[in-house]
Amino acid sequence: MASYQSFYDQSLANPEAFWKEQAQAIHWFEHPEEILYKDEHDLPRWYKGGSMNTSYLALDYHVENGRADQVALIYDSPVTDTIQKYTFRELRDEVARFAGVLQSKGVEKGDTVVIYMPMIPQTAIAMLACARIGAIHSVVFGGFAAHELAIRIDDAKPKLLLAASGGLEIKRVIDYMTIVNKAIEEATHQPDACIVYQRDFIKAPLKEGRDYDWDQVLQLAVPAPYVPLLPADPLYILYTSGTTGKPKGIVRENGGHAVAMKFSMKYVYGIEPGEVYWAASDVGWVVGHSYIVYAPLIHGCTTILFEGKPIKTPDAGTFWRVIEQHQVNVFFTAPTAFRAIKKADPESIFFKKYKLESLRTLFLAGERCDVTTLNWLRDLLQIPVIDHWWQTESGWPMIANMSGVELLPIKPGSAGKAVCGYDIRILDPECNELPPNTEGAVAIHLPLAPGCLPNLWQDTERFKNSYLAPYPGYYFSGDGGYKDEDGYIFITGRIDDIINVAGHRLSTAEMEEVVAAHPAVAECAVIGIRDDLKGQKPIGFVVLKEGINLTEAELEAELVQMVRDQVGPVASFKRAIICDRLPKTRSGKILRKIMRNIADEVQYNPPSTIEDMSVLGELEQLVKEKHVGS
Ligand code: COA
Ligand code: AMP
Repeated sequence: MASYQSFYDQSLANPEAFWKEQAQAIHWFEHPEEILYKDEHDLPRWYKGGSMNTSYLALDYHVENGRADQVALIYDSPVTDTIQKYTFRELRDEVARFAGVLQSKGVEKGDTVVIYMPMIPQTAIAMLACARIGAIHSVVFGGFAAHELAIRIDDAKPKLLLAASGGLEIKRVIDYMTIVNKAIEEATHQPDACIVYQRDFIKAPLKEGRDYDWDQVLQLAVPAPYVPLLPADPLYILYTSGTTGKPKGIVRENGGHAVAMKFSMKYVYGIEPGEVYWAASDVGWVVGHSYIVYAPLIHGCTTILFEGKPIKTPDAGTFWRVIEQHQVNVFFTAPTAFRAIKKADPESIFFKKYKLESLRTLFLAGERCDVTTLNWLRDLLQIPVIDHWWQTESGWPMIANMSGVELLPIKPGSAGKAVCGYDIRILDPECNELPPNTEGAVAIHLPLAPGCLPNLWQDTERFKNSYLAPYPGYYFSGDGGYKDEDGYIFITGRIDDIINVAGHRLSTAEMEEVVAAHPAVAECAVIGIRDDLKGQKPIGFVVLKEGINLTEAELEAELVQMVRDQVGPVASFKRAIICDRLPKTRSGKILRKIMRNIADEVQYNPPSTIEDMSVLGELEQLVKEKHVGS
């Protein structure tokens, strides 16, 4: 095996040769004719021509090649007290039947299907069934409210909507169909039909003529064969928060994605086919798409679909229990989950109950990993604990310690080095590369590696403006960071208005739209401030209209409910503070970064463009009085 450096250098020196070779690791019905090309928008794309099918790679390929009876998926649900296992053959058969259901409802190659479902096997089955027939799925995370679902329905224009009757948040029952009904009512686009998976603990009333019972339609279904697809055919759309109120529809295409999934399992996660891989996330996020569903299955691993939380389901030992019980070899989750576990089990009493010999490596991502948590985990587990960095846009790691190539020394605080295929640079605003240890914008010299977004769903202009225009020739990640003299990259956080709450990516602009719509609000700013457990949490600063007679507590309660109803509980919007005015530039732009610094009580330099310096003192005083940082 090559060293990391030589492998990485090869990937940049001759990307076409490198990714041609990596593409051999997956089964193509017909090999691609070109490796790297420019599409009709003059954008770089990977793998032109040839044919393949992602669902085939994840399932049928293994059934045909000796893994038919290996467990493919373990559904472990402490909230319903269920453990259910599917072999590759069983999962393939379930997927083929559900693909038949989709076809029976008129879904064809290129149609979109929205999936609003909790962490149950049927969700993964639905995704793989779409992939089998070339339909494009768009999974919406269950913690989003009806309005967010409606926005996504209007953008993706699904032929069909797949839902479950409900989910369980620890013990709280989430009535999914009430949310679906509200969303469909709000949306302009109307799906032809909904297929609803009825769970034991909540039965949803079905709307005659629109809704179908999952099990009933499944009984009538004829299994559907997989459809050969072009590598450039879209596999899914996944909406993620942007800097405006409208989420971005990240497109993932079949070919590059399958190659990247396979490549990352071997070279980043260092796992072999037949081993057990667990990503404790949610299928509604990119981690769930890539590392609960597609990558482990394509690689021939057993994957775990966990319906629970790191704590309270039933206790802070639940992760350790799953690792021991299912003999997990590689584990991946967000640091916030471990901060919750550490808080609930500071003496590691639960941890000591389990034997974790199977566990070889722990990967963390989704948010900045604080050094305290990383070191705590390293000391506790005595295995490599690897922070790594990526985004919904990339679909797989861009900065990591490529443990399957060579485990490099770990520098706590750094997300590692650039992954093969990613030419990562730290740039100043004029697009010049900055010297080591100097903070700037994290950008990637084009082309991005296979698997990364080729475009936004039906919005090339936004794609170009958001990602390509800020630094010509580069993809702009939205993150800030620096590189040290050894090439280790340290991510310092978003430099736009996106925040990261408990590993969930959220837009303050979306919350601001909701807060601004309150009749008492003249203007407002929602910013993300530091939080010991969730990394960040949102907080609203609100200027009231003249003559409003509302207490801060009353206003806060109303705003919290509005954000919950319109964005969703996952926003964790819990605080709103009334202030006399907001700090602004002379041209009227709200100085959100300065507000963030004030709220976090960190030093800042007021910009020369500020309209009135005295507002900063007022804000500092207010933040102290209201104990914002605590
Ligand atoms: N459906 C409905 N509601 C959901 C939901 C879902 N799928 N996921 C979260 N919510 C709700 C929660 O119930 C909570 O509601 P509440 O305000 O009524 O309590 C709210 O959204 C906030 O959820 P969360 O941010 O998850 O906070 P929490 O306090 O419930 O749990 C942690 C804290 C740290 C345990 C939890 O955030 C966690 O497990 N994080 C791991 C992060 C992760 O997997 N990230 C994915 C990227 S790798
Ligand atoms: P998402 O698209 O939801 O995966 O969120 C991506 C964003 O999460 C990135 O742009 C970063 O801001 C943040 N992020 C993800 N992983 C890390 C990490 N390892 N370190 C720091 N920030 C991270």
